[in-house]
Amino acid sequence: MDARQLKIEAAREALGHVEDGMKLGIGTGSTAEEFVRLLAVKVGEGLSIIGVPTSERTAALCTELGVPLSTLDETPRLDLTIDGADEIDPHLGLIKGGGGALLREKIVAAASSKMIVIADASKLVDTLGRFPLPIEVNPFGLGATRAAIEDAAARLGLKGELTLRMTNDAPFVTDGGHFIIDASFGRIPDTRALSDALHAIPGVVEHGLFLGLAKAAIVAEAGGVRTVRP
Ligand code: 5RP
Repeated sequence: MDARQLKIEAAREALGHVEDGMKLGIGTGSTAEEFVRLLAVKVGEGLSIIGVPTSERTAALCTELGVPLSTLDETPRLDLTIDGADEIDPHLGLIKGGGGALLREKIVAAASSKMIVIADASKLVDTLGRFPLPIEVNPFGLGATRAAIEDAAARLGLKGELTLRMTNDAPFVTDGGHFIIDASFGRIPDTRALSDALHAIPGVVEHGLFLGLAKAAIVAEAGGVRTVRP
């Protein structure tokens, strides 16, 4: 089975958790997009849901495929969010933000009664940190924020390259108008301590550690699909 087919299988399994009338958070990334495609087919067959997208990219795909959308202003409490991840640890701690949508993804997940992650098995790790941690920052005071991140990480025994994410020779700009620093710390033994330390830096808008948010991960591999719970 190729990588795309694994994503489709995970997305198909997640669709089984979607019930008529649900208010649904809809994630961002290639796996979430497979979910949107399958969801759109069900909507075409009469499934009634309302979706809140986690990015402009997801919103555009939903609109193109006829998935009805709302906003968190109109629909502040959601039943379920389905989203991908860049890394998943055994406690269902996640790294997200490889697609640059971590802020809206975290806001939408936090507004949901339940978050289910969909992924192929390559995303499973024992300890988070192999994937560089995306940190969304305000463009103002970028240098100072970067230095503060370095200092905070060093206090936790973490060091590594901090790279400003670029696209077409310019800083990548998130849907919220912020920049992203990708932090290559390597293994992060104490994710909660790093999360708290990053949140204490004024220029940090949000980071890609999702702790305690996912209730299940649907993981596809060549042998089949399994559900991982914390
Ligand atoms: C976007 C994300 C994505 O969920 C994450 O990057 C996984 O993407 P993909 O399914 O393409 O591997 O966090 O901000």
